[in-house]
Amino acid sequence: MTYIIGIVSQKGGVGKSTLARLIAREAAQGGVSVKIADLDHQQQTSAKWQARRAENGIKPEIRVEVFQNVKTALSEAQSFDVYVLDGAPHSSKDTALIAKAASLIVIPTSDSDEDLEPAVLLAHDLKREGVPIDRIAFALCLISDSAKEVRAAREYLQKTPYKLLDGEVPFRTGFRQSLARGKAITETPFKSLVRRADKLAQSVIDAAAQAGERKAA
Ligand SMILES: Nc1ncnc2c1ncn2[C@@H]1O[C@H](COP(=O)(O)OP(=O)(O)O)[C@@H](O)[C@H]1O
Ligand SMILES: [Mg+2]
Repeated sequence: MTYIIGIVSQKGGVGKSTLARLIAREAAQGGVSVKIADLDHQQQTSAKWQARRAENGIKPEIRVEVFQNVKTALSEAQSFDVYVLDGAPHSSKDTALIAKAASLIVIPTSDSDEDLEPAVLLAHDLKREGVPIDRIAFALCLISDSAKEVRAAREYLQKTPYKLLDGEVPFRTGFRQSLARGKAITETPFKSLVRRADKLAQSVIDAAAQAGERKAA
């Protein structure tokens, strides 16, 4: 069975493509067949990253392909164990299609109110469109160094009916540099950061497996 993981947000720059690359790398490293469908055909962030990864000979290889439309991307999803849809910003129509097909929808947000509020509003929109609440999850990405702010963000998200994933990714220049070289954020030399990112990747995969089993039942 395929776990389709859709990563969406109305905002750009919140960490969708970074999360897609993280999940794909951890799945591939675990021996699972995985592909990223890069739906942001203007930025093509994941596809360009994959090209840099191949250029630098980084293993494991990750499959990435740019798709202009969600339906085409989904047509081959069943050939993989994990299929990650890396969403484009400002695309309500795509987001609705992704939400319908995905075992799990992940909405990345930082600990800033400017990201938290639109993330929760998007989750409400998806719920209104009929997506079950246990298939919607928040991932804390690009978070600040303020433990207080991060705690407040967790408390705010925990009050919503949606899932809040364990683990988080702080903003670090080192992460950005690694991404620019074709590495995932778990492929950096910073051990404690890698642990936090790895925890997030695992909780995405676990949540997708749980939601996928419920969806199939
Ligand atoms: N944890 C992080 N620390 C530092 N920079 C990051 C981190 N995560 C992502 N970035 C950088 O932030 C920018 C936006 O991330 P990206 O994943 O492309 O967001 P989106 O896909 O939502 O537009 C990119 O330049 C990326 O390299
Ligand atoms: Mg992106």
